[in-house]
Amino acid sequence: MADEKRTVVVATGNAGKLAEIRHALEGFDFEFLSAADLGAAPLEVAETGESFTDNAYLKAAAYRKKFGMAALADDSGLVVDALGGRPGVRSSRYASENATDLDNTRKLLEELDGFGSEMRAARFQCAIVLLDEAGDATWACGTCEGQIGFVPKGSGGFGYDPVFMPDEKSGYSMAELTLAEKNAISHRGKALAVLREQLLSKD
Ligand code: IMP
Repeated sequence: MADEKRTVVVATGNAGKLAEIRHALEGFDFEFLSAADLGAAPLEVAETGESFTDNAYLKAAAYRKKFGMAALADDSGLVVDALGGRPGVRSSRYASENATDLDNTRKLLEELDGFGSEMRAARFQCAIVLLDEAGDATWACGTCEGQIGFVPKGSGGFGYDPVFMPDEKSGYSMAELTLAEKNAISHRGKALAVLREQLLSKD
């Protein structure tokens, strides 16, 4: 691979996400930087798309335009079958525009009150879009299947982790896993692995 690194701005203010992206895409000739690394504030991009892929694309396009370089963005959320796919693209704003993680999980548990385990199937989904310098897109999706629990459990992670019981770690909530355990089965980890394959097949 080339010595000269191609700079890619990553549309996130979350240092953990940036580290995960750097780790998953190690070995490519990319240098992943945040807006802060480039001396700027993160952009406020309206997530008006109808799918995670739409929103990831909107964010990547806004960052590519603003910084004049390749850009990578992801979008993710929780999809609950019994709620017709909600909260979906509204996952971070489910209870209200300024909802906290606690507000959102509380609303989810209220909506599913009275639903038995056979009605609690859900999945985290993640879409990642990389736009190169010319605007050509490489994109990938990842899914983590599970169930919504009856009570919050664990203190790790963020968002809906305390009420999401991944099928691949039966009996545990996502918030009870170590970061390494979560990354190994998470929707974002899987999307990054697929993106890595896509990029390798383009080399
Ligand atoms: P974003 O794509 O990282 O902005 O995530 C949107 C929202 O989806 C978050 O605010 C969370 O509510 C939810 N979400 C996404 N990924 C996860 C996860 O790994 N655990 C828990 N909640 C998540």
